[in-house]
Amino acid sequence: MANPVKEGELVHLIDKKGRSYRILLDARSSFTFRHGTISHDTIIGLDDGSVVKSNYGEKFLVIRPTLAEYIAKMRKGSQIIYPKDIAAILMLADIFPGATVLEAGIGSGALTMALLRAVGADGKVISYERRKEFLKIARNNIETFFDTVESAGKECSGELIVKEKDVYEGIEDKELDRILLDLQEPWRALKHVEESLRNGGILLCYNPTVLQIFKLSKRLEMKYAQSFRVMGIYEVIMRGWEVKGRSIRPEHRMVAHTGFIFVARKCSPVE
Ligand SMILES: C[S@@+](CC[C@H](N)C(=O)[O-])C[C@H]1O[C@@H](n2cnc3c(N)ncnc32)[C@H](O)[C@@H]1O
Repeated sequence: MANPVKEGELVHLIDKKGRSYRILLDARSSFTFRHGTISHDTIIGLDDGSVVKSNYGEKFLVIRPTLAEYIAKMRKGSQIIYPKDIAAILMLADIFPGATVLEAGIGSGALTMALLRAVGADGKVISYERRKEFLKIARNNIETFFDTVESAGKECSGELIVKEKDVYEGIEDKELDRILLDLQEPWRALKHVEESLRNGGILLCYNPTVLQIFKLSKRLEMKYAQSFRVMGIYEVIMRGWEVKGRSIRPEHRMVAHTGFIFVARKCSPVE
């Protein structure tokens, strides 16, 4: 069934080299680049996945961005979690429809958008962030995604509650199903996580260095062994491949190390 792109929608144009350009469709505008001009008018009304030509004859694929493609192009304030890790996080933290999830900090909102989709319309994402400027960037990224990307799934996504708060100072929300920490010193929040995560709930921490994971594991073992069971520590390695005629091989470049994913489960302390 045809599903044409509309005025006000965000789409990506992809050229023959795979470069993508993000545009917000506005009938009075045009997109100009070194291979010519394309007026938005010629794109509005085309089916998702159509091909358009610039006035210089250069061809572009018109597509509605996936969340991963949107994240790649959105404005970033902080370092984001890469889509390859977000995919694993959703599974390892078992983010389920209807869940109440707390994350800290919100950063640029990359993980938040995936969480909002995964918890669904009956779920809730509570995001703590201590820096105002990141809150603003994240809100803007999240609103733009759900308001202008047709396939974002706004109606089926969860409620977002954003709090300008330092998670090291406390978590006022209780009986949480999941807590996801993407910040430098997750061990400083363990006491609050212990109080706020429900029994059986999952704590997931994302950290780039092994020293952070070591310190987190040690702290958990020394002070919180009664309340948490470590379920695993993971790293996601994703290598792209390319096909060029008879040459089929891995791409030369890859995003190698990004971060470690640390997963623990809250248990009721033994008396
Ligand atoms: C690496 S970024 C998070 C990126 C985010 N997960 C994303 O995918 O876009 C870390 C964020 O945590 C915030 N942060 C650091 N310590 C915090 C704390 N104690 N409480 C709340 N937010 C904190 C930082 O300001 C920053 O925005």
